[in-house]
Amino acid sequence: TVFDCSILDLDKAHTLKGNLTVVENLKNIPFEIKRVYYLYDVPGGSERGGHAHIELQQYLIAASGSFDVKLSDGTNTRTVCLNRPYYALHIVPGIWRELQNFSSGSICLVLASHPYDETDYVRSFDEFIVAKERNNDHMRCR
Ligand code: TYD
Repeated sequence: TVFDCSILDLDKAHTLKGNLTVVENLKNIPFEIKRVYYLYDVPGGSERGGHAHIELQQYLIAASGSFDVKLSDGTNTRTVCLNRPYYALHIVPGIWRELQNFSSGSICLVLASHPYDETDYVRSFDEFIVAKERNNDHMRCR
């Protein structure tokens, strides 16, 4: 459910010369990172996401700036504002997400558990709801 999605408060190394945050494979996150990608130059007012994943789980980090992540499991919704580079939002499988309200210059860094696979996407909200209602094993929500 959306309540299984949690915010990880990553350690920060503060120095007079700036700050640093580390994410280490299998150490502070519960899966092996197979892919890293980032969204940038998102025009004001744009929405990203608008899909769910069957198996993929990921962490979203506002590496710069801020944006909102709207989560739905078909029953409950939750909106999380990411606005610090040391917060990482864990999105478990089977969650519909929409990213919105990107601040200018913001960067959404994504750490993903699998390589890119279009067949892992559910890109229709109606389909997502139908799958949830069927309690389809393939759309399990941990
Ligand atoms: P999409 O998943 O629709 O972006 P978002 O969820 O961030 O709004 O991806 C945008 C395009 O990029 C789409 O054509 C698929 C492609 N893409 C890849 O080729 N590899 C990837 O790892 C990702 C995430 C997307």
